[in-house]
Amino acid sequence: MQQEHIIELLTGKDSRKKKSRIPARLDLLQSVTGLILVLFILFHLLFESSILLGKDAMYALTKGFEMSFIFEGGEPLVISFLALMIFIVFILHAFIATRKFPASYRESIRYRTHAKLLKHEDTNLWFIQISTGFMMFFLGSVHLYTMMTQPEKIGPFASADRVYSDTAWPLYLLLLVSVVLHAGAGVYRLIVKWGVCDRTRSKTIIKAATAFYLLIGLVSLGAYIRIGYEHRNDYGQRYHTEVSR
Ligand code: HEM
Repeated sequence: MQQEHIIELLTGKDSRKKKSRIPARLDLLQSVTGLILVLFILFHLLFESSILLGKDAMYALTKGFEMSFIFEGGEPLVISFLALMIFIVFILHAFIATRKFPASYRESIRYRTHAKLLKHEDTNLWFIQISTGFMMFFLGSVHLYTMMTQPEKIGPFASADRVYSDTAWPLYLLLLVSVVLHAGAGVYRLIVKWGVCDRTRSKTIIKAATAFYLLIGLVSLGAYIRIGYEHRNDYGQRYHTEVSR
């Protein structure tokens, strides 16, 4: 009975109702949008860590994303478009996920009691996903909106100024921890759900990847903070402006 209730809580399905195909389709759509976002974030954190190779490396990559090989000097609207596409997938993914949130405070208390009783690692993973997902509703939206509306303000100095002088670092710190834990737990649950590979092995690989991404994210954030601090008296001045425009 308890098990049945937890399954209903986790899947959002009521076993007493007649089966419909919609929950299965929504589940698939959630997996697909989740996978797109995970792939995006894996590359995003790597590209963003280009700052560790130096300001020139990050600048060159930014101009590459702005398609400077087609548009002279780069076109920031390309970034706006990319951010809009990601925002749409992000909203869709979050919207489908809301049906899995505990519907009321009492239900969430009941869930916590069950989780304690069962001491089930997978149930705790679900709790991590719900709480980090909830945080990302706000943190991810602020970041995506900024990228969409101020795409020209990306670069070694512009990004560092935002991180340090505009005090975006607390947002990035929370977003980094949330997104890495959320993605790690999400990929593990996807593997278990679709049975693609061995549980124990995938757990080890995912734990290592989570630690790696947390580490490069934190070190990169530290680099942006340092550059922003050194650049604080020249806030707003752009890197290589005189060369590119
Ligand atoms: C196309 C969409 C996106 C673009 C263009 C973008 C771009 C950037 C840039 C340029 C930075 C460096 C800091 C800055 O300039 O403010 C950054 C940092 C960051 N972004 Fe994004 N981002 C996008 C989407 C996302 C999404 C969807 C997430 C997660 C939900 C995310 C998570 C992060 C995190 C955690 C950091 C800080 C990384 C660190 O600690 O080193 N970004 N992003």
